[in-house]
Amino acid sequence: MTVSAPQIKPAPCAFVIFGATGDLTHRLVIPSLYNLAAAGLLPERFCVVGIVRRGMSSDALRDSLMQGLKKFATRPVEDAVAERLLACVTAIEADPRQPDSFDGLKETLERLEAARNTGGNRLFYLATPPDAFAPIARQLGRVGLLQEQDGAWRRLVVEKPFGTDLASAKALNEELLKLLTEHQIYRIDHYLGKETVQNILVLRFANGIFEPIWNRNHIDHVQITVEEKLGVGHRGSFYDATGALRDMVPNHLFQLLSLVAMEPPIRFDAHSVRSEKADVLSAIQIQNEADALKNSVRGQYTGGRIGDAEIVDYLSTPEVRPDSTTETYAALKLSIDNWRWAGVPFYLRTGKALGAKRTEVAIKFKQAPFAMFACTPITRLSQNYLVIGIEPTQGITLQFNTKVPGPAITIDGVEMKFHYKDYFNAEPSTGYETLIYDCMIGDNILFQRADGVEAGWRAVEPFLDAWKKAGATGLERYQAGSAGPQGAEDLLKRDGRSWRIV
Ligand code: BG6
Repeated sequence: MTVSAPQIKPAPCAFVIFGATGDLTHRLVIPSLYNLAAAGLLPERFCVVGIVRRGMSSDALRDSLMQGLKKFATRPVEDAVAERLLACVTAIEADPRQPDSFDGLKETLERLEAARNTGGNRLFYLATPPDAFAPIARQLGRVGLLQEQDGAWRRLVVEKPFGTDLASAKALNEELLKLLTEHQIYRIDHYLGKETVQNILVLRFANGIFEPIWNRNHIDHVQITVEEKLGVGHRGSFYDATGALRDMVPNHLFQLLSLVAMEPPIRFDAHSVRSEKADVLSAIQIQNEADALKNSVRGQYTGGRIGDAEIVDYLSTPEVRPDSTTETYAALKLSIDNWRWAGVPFYLRTGKALGAKRTEVAIKFKQAPFAMFACTPITRLSQNYLVIGIEPTQGITLQFNTKVPGPAITIDGVEMKFHYKDYFNAEPSTGYETLIYDCMIGDNILFQRADGVEAGWRAVEPFLDAWKKAGATGLERYQAGSAGPQGAEDLLKRDGRSWRIV
């Protein structure tokens, strides 16, 4: 993430993709590399290596990636740019279940690097299922491909999910940190590739007006909402073992929470920013089992219609256990135990198969004293919210009260809005360009550090444990296309609050 406008070209490097034939590579990685190439932000001396499993030729891989690019590109594909990018793709076979194949990979890669003059800089991108992360890293380490030497860098990009609970995340961190140092590891959370998410830092710390009121003296509570219309679809087997909480909260929702709640970093650099984020996540109060149950809501969708789409009951989804108690909706009430936030609840909710797609952080300010209006016909003041919109609207909205024109004193709530699209002519992007570019220039600011990942898992662990024990008890059913389980409304209602109405 660069602070000033001029962007430098990354140093020459080899970009090695594990999972080159997979969906992520076709849908996001190659279209992002294409966008970087079109913007002149790929190095001249560059090569892409696609790791393939079964005797796939470089030509076949290039064809497949070109088809993917045409399908998923975010802007019209210029043949010359695409051909130039794909011309530097080479398929190499390697499989961690056949360790010898990594000796072959090393030999071929080193030959290719010499031919392309990439200077030995390497980025290994693990776009694979998570159970392959450690085995691949182990083999890369064994053959010496991860060791930084003679001024050449070696980096490992790890996709989500990073672990399935605290113990597995710790084990994966330990394993990787035996092979690499922290600065070589880039743990991706695609939410940090979103402009509006990165903008939270800028909104808070590049403006003098927010910081003085950004605390328990002025903020009543914070709402973080990530609602999706899509059901689980073809991901039944992954999702049923995962659930809404694991899939979204310790990663995406906690990224939003940590950016909103962190202390100001002393410097805009990876160390300072990531330290503050990890600190605030570790200040989330660890709840006991009874509190975790009281402060959470779980839901599972039943069949319904969303627009033109028919959504089948979660329990009838292919590869979902018919008696599954996996949640497709989760809402939590969290407290952050520090001076800034003591007594300010953070309400989080996320779910699938809901009536609308919406991602936002809504900061609700304390109500103004009403006494002055008691002698007027005004019965209530509407609420002051600062809303950071991520989907479907990207921007910032401030809701405040204003006088309705006319002789009598009447007050109404209005909105002041900033929409990204009205100000900047940014080319449509996949959201991965900045992340990939940052890996190439060696800036870890938008990536998760080991302590941050572990703090996130630690905070959700009580909910995971309590829900596992509770089984079907307390799991609410909600209809696909609805606003979610009633319990999520009640969670705020019992505190005299409600979710922001759009
Ligand atoms: C992914 C989850 O990490 O994020 C998906 O695995 C979810 O289940 C997706 O749909 C949401 O991302 P976004 O950018 O659409 O909010």
